[in-house]
Amino acid sequence: MGVRHFLTLLDLSKSELLGLLDRASALKQLQRNHQRHDVLARRTLAMIFEKASTRTRVSFETAMTQLGGASIFLSPADTQLGRGEPIEDTARVLSRMVDAIMVRTFAHSKIETMARHSAVPVINALTDDHHPCQLLADLQTYREHRGALEGRTVAWVGDGNNMCNSFIHAAHLLDFELVVACPPGYEPLADLLRQHARNVRVERDPALAVRGASLVATDVWASMGQEAEQQKRKVAFADYQVTRRLMDQAAAGALFLHCLPAHRGEEVSAEVIDDPQSVVWEEAENRLHAQKALLEFLLCS
Ligand code: CP
Ligand code: NVA
Repeated sequence: MGVRHFLTLLDLSKSELLGLLDRASALKQLQRNHQRHDVLARRTLAMIFEKASTRTRVSFETAMTQLGGASIFLSPADTQLGRGEPIEDTARVLSRMVDAIMVRTFAHSKIETMARHSAVPVINALTDDHHPCQLLADLQTYREHRGALEGRTVAWVGDGNNMCNSFIHAAHLLDFELVVACPPGYEPLADLLRQHARNVRVERDPALAVRGASLVATDVWASMGQEAEQQKRKVAFADYQVTRRLMDQAAAGALFLHCLPAHRGEEVSAEVIDDPQSVVWEEAENRLHAQKALLEFLLCS
C-alpha cells in the first residue's frame, strides 16, 4: 500500500480504528508510568495551522516530543502559504523534508489536494467538514469509561458541523446509532446522512434525541469561520442547549463530551460541563494519547 493519510475517520478500517484506540490507552499508561517510548526519534512533523488552536497544537507538539521527534509550527502569517504559494507546491516541498504533515484549514478539498501531492502522511487536524483526530480522543474516552459503543445510542445536540460529520463516520465504523438534534438548516452533510442512513437520523426535539442515549455530545454553535453568523445562530440554537434537565432524560450513567473550547450558557450549561458525568478534561487529554497512537500507526507500521 502507498502512503497512508488520515483525512477522515474512514481512512481507517474498523479493526485499525479499534487497534488504534487500544494502543492510545496503552500509550497513556506508558506515559503515566514515565516509560520512554521514542519510536519517532529524528522524525519531524510539520503542522500547518490556518485556524486557531490550543488542544490540537499542544497535543501534536507534545506527542512528537514524547515520541522522541520534533514538530514545526507553520502559519500562513509567516510562511509563503500566506503569500499565495500553491498548496500543491507546499506539499511537494514539505514532504521532501519532513515525515508527516498535519493541517488545520478551511475547505476540506484543500487537504485532499495536499494529500494528493504529498509523499508523506497528511493528517487532518480539522477542516470545515471533518475533525477526525477529535473523534479518536472521543471514542477512546468513551471506551475507557464504558466499553464498546457498538449497538448503543449517541445523541449529538446542536450544529451539524465538522464534529457531527466525523461522528457519523464513527457511527458507521463502530455500528452505533447516532441521533442528531439540530434546527432546520443546520444538518450535517446531506451525502453523509444519505450514505449512513442505517446509523444516523435527524430528530428536531433534543429531549427525544437524548432518550436512551449512553453518550451526549455537543459543540459550539458557530465554528471557526462562522463568526459573522454568531448572533443569527444564537437565536436558531436557543432550544438546543445541553442542560441538566436534558441530561436527566438520557440513559442512566450517560456521559457528556464536548471537543472544547466551550461556551458555557450557550451550547452547554455550566452545571453540565462541570458535572462528574462530563468527561471533557479527560477527552482533551486523550487528544495527546490518541494522536501518539495515530502517528505511530502512520509512521511505524
Ligand atoms: N478541540 C480542538 O480541536 O481544540 P483546539 O481548537 O483548541 O485545537
Ligand atoms: N466545530 C468547531 C470545533 C473546534 C475544535 C470549529 O470548527 O470551530
